[in-house]
Amino acid sequence: MIEIATSLLNVKEEEVIRKIYDLEVAGTDYFHIDVMDGKLVKRDTSETMRKYAEYVKNVSNIPMEVHLMVEDVENYIKSYLALEPHMIIFHYESAKTDAERIKWLHILQESNCKIGMSIKPNTPVGKLYEFLPYLHRVLIMTVEPGEGGQELIPETIEKIQELNKFTYENGIDIDIEVDGGINDKTAQKVIEAGANILVSGSYIIHHENMKEAIKILKRK
Ligand code: DX5
Ligand code: ZN
Repeated sequence: MIEIATSLLNVKEEEVIRKIYDLEVAGTDYFHIDVMDGKLVKRDTSETMRKYAEYVKNVSNIPMEVHLMVEDVENYIKSYLALEPHMIIFHYESAKTDAERIKWLHILQESNCKIGMSIKPNTPVGKLYEFLPYLHRVLIMTVEPGEGGQELIPETIEKIQELNKFTYENGIDIDIEVDGGINDKTAQKVIEAGANILVSGSYIIHHENMKEAIKILKRK
């Protein structure tokens, strides 16, 4: 089954509560919150995304996933756990050492929150293999993190295939999520490569019929 996580990154503040209601009706499976600190990536969305996450928590029953594009992962994990998200995803690249990654994984393991790890387009997917036993989900970035509305980088498709093959051959049950440049043209490619959860921002948000857009992405 294919699931859709809608990114609220490019939703204007004055429209966000309306969009949350409309997206719930349109059938999004998750709300995707893109937290950027101005350090790991250039843009800083930390204040706006905190507000959006609180709105989601207060007005919707749809599960929320928090995508942390930040350096100080520990503090962001602790502060977002207060909002009881379904899942927190941090970047492999946020840490310099495995000890640090393991520490963050342990903090998440002690909570009820599901755990995801994400990789940028230039990081080999094999780097994540040793962490798979801790993870519920791997998020493969199909664009450079930092902005919505970019085009999917074709080389990232091979990473999805590689991870899908590895998990299948090793009997590992894990979700493969992709993020960036997902639209009616790219959805089929990432699904064929093995992704089962698609993050989409611009395509859904700017579509005149969001329900239809979600259906199209799910290839139904
Ligand atoms: C990029 C973010 C996104 C992305 C999705 O850094 O992680 O979730 O903005 O937006 P679209 O679908 O517009 O690429
Ligand atoms: Zn994201």
